[in-house]
Amino acid sequence: MSLRFDFNNMFDFSVNEHGVSQQDINEAMPEAQKAAAHLKKILGNPVFRIKFNLEWAKLPEQKEEDIAAIAKIARQISLKYENVLFLGIGGSYLGLKAAQDALCAPYFNEFNALRKKSPRVYFEGNNLDPDTLSVLLKNLNPKKTFVIVISKSGETTETKAALILVEAWLKKTVGAKYGRQILAITDPESGSLRKRVLAEQARDPLSFRSLPLLKGVGGRFSEFNMGLMHLALVGIDIRKLFLGAKEMFARCSNEDILKNPAYLYALLHFILYQKKDKSLAVLMPFSQTLKSTADWYVQLLAESLGKKYHRRMEVDRNGVENWLTNKDDLFNRGRTPISAAGTNDLHSIQQNNVEGENNKVVTFMRVEKFKTDLKIPGKGDLLSGKGFCQLMQLAREATEWALVSQKRPNCTIIIPEVSAYNWGALLFFFEMATAFEGELYNINAFDQPGVEGYKNYMYYKLGKPGIPQAVTEEIKNKPLIKDSKYII
Ligand code: PA5
Repeated sequence: MSLRFDFNNMFDFSVNEHGVSQQDINEAMPEAQKAAAHLKKILGNPVFRIKFNLEWAKLPEQKEEDIAAIAKIARQISLKYENVLFLGIGGSYLGLKAAQDALCAPYFNEFNALRKKSPRVYFEGNNLDPDTLSVLLKNLNPKKTFVIVISKSGETTETKAALILVEAWLKKTVGAKYGRQILAITDPESGSLRKRVLAEQARDPLSFRSLPLLKGVGGRFSEFNMGLMHLALVGIDIRKLFLGAKEMFARCSNEDILKNPAYLYALLHFILYQKKDKSLAVLMPFSQTLKSTADWYVQLLAESLGKKYHRRMEVDRNGVENWLTNKDDLFNRGRTPISAAGTNDLHSIQQNNVEGENNKVVTFMRVEKFKTDLKIPGKGDLLSGKGFCQLMQLAREATEWALVSQKRPNCTIIIPEVSAYNWGALLFFFEMATAFEGELYNINAFDQPGVEGYKNYMYYKLGKPGIPQAVTEEIKNKPLIKDSKYII
């Protein structure tokens, strides 16, 4: 059974003037249809898909032999090593973490019986806080630890810094051949990590083995590419995941926007943002194991749709498109995503959701069937004889009711159970919705120029050569003001 989507509470018949009306839909439909036609054109053209970074849509169609090759390497690693340390950040980390939490047993690292024959899994290189990596380097046995570094560019400071440290740590105990304990997932052709892979393999073909990130797949859309080795290592059925994603692709190719879950989701959010100022997107899975999936979607939404400028499209006589950043057409918008979890955050953000500013749309994720249930023993208490699943469903329904009673728009993604199939469908749904919402705003949803600001500042302070003159001038001319009067 596949995912279902309940959009009732997005409409005015549920939340009055804070919801979408039929007239809103009618008015938005011509533009929405144009956006859908454009996305269809891009997705249907292999050259455009790669040029504009939409090749992610084809990832669920990867060849059986490629999946088998990944599974083979994963088996070799699992047989030899007790721990696998993943290094990566942003799109090179969040999908893996989301998969780990959604699809592996909770407390996976703690219990052998849960891991079966899989190694323990750790994630680092996603922060510059020294305290977490230090603990691992002090306590893991380098001889029993395999390292998988994921970076498309190979240049990302957090990941690069962690890799340099981890290499030194491995080398000290394992010796000169420590590179045999490293696998790199990176761009197939360019970037410093790819260069390193080529140099290491020329010396020793078993050192720095690597897997490619496919062309035209950007970091945050790449879980079905760079995440595959992780999935294979922890024993997730990649084929089932792809089946779920493919089924969702078929559903999200429906030209009737009102029957297309991703397009309708995006359109309703678009209308609520444009017309009703609902600028915050609260993702609220009622499941502890889907919290990291909400975190993954936070990155997808924020980096894809929070943009400074509109896109300018140039189309030549042959229909070949070029996307340019239109610096004369400021956008400076993008819904702000917030991830929360039911039921924990009912004792936190929910107060604001219900009584704070009415500027949010809440997306619930409701799991219909959990893997287990816990029945509360005893008699005489209100809770006696009740199951956790029953209470969870009731808490979610009650939260939905509380929001609707205060005219707060919300919608629910109904997940029959958290399985590889449904999780694959869920990720693909969010990716399609994000791509379509980008089309509705006419922005480029597949770049992230805003992330460069902090990187440039760091590189400037670190003395990296080659920073453009205009950037160094801007940093020099606009230093941060640190008036001691206001540091109290
Ligand atoms: O979505 C993106 O492209 C980014 O979030 C990247 O994934 C992130 O910055 C990490 O980049 P890289 O894989 O080059 O280290």
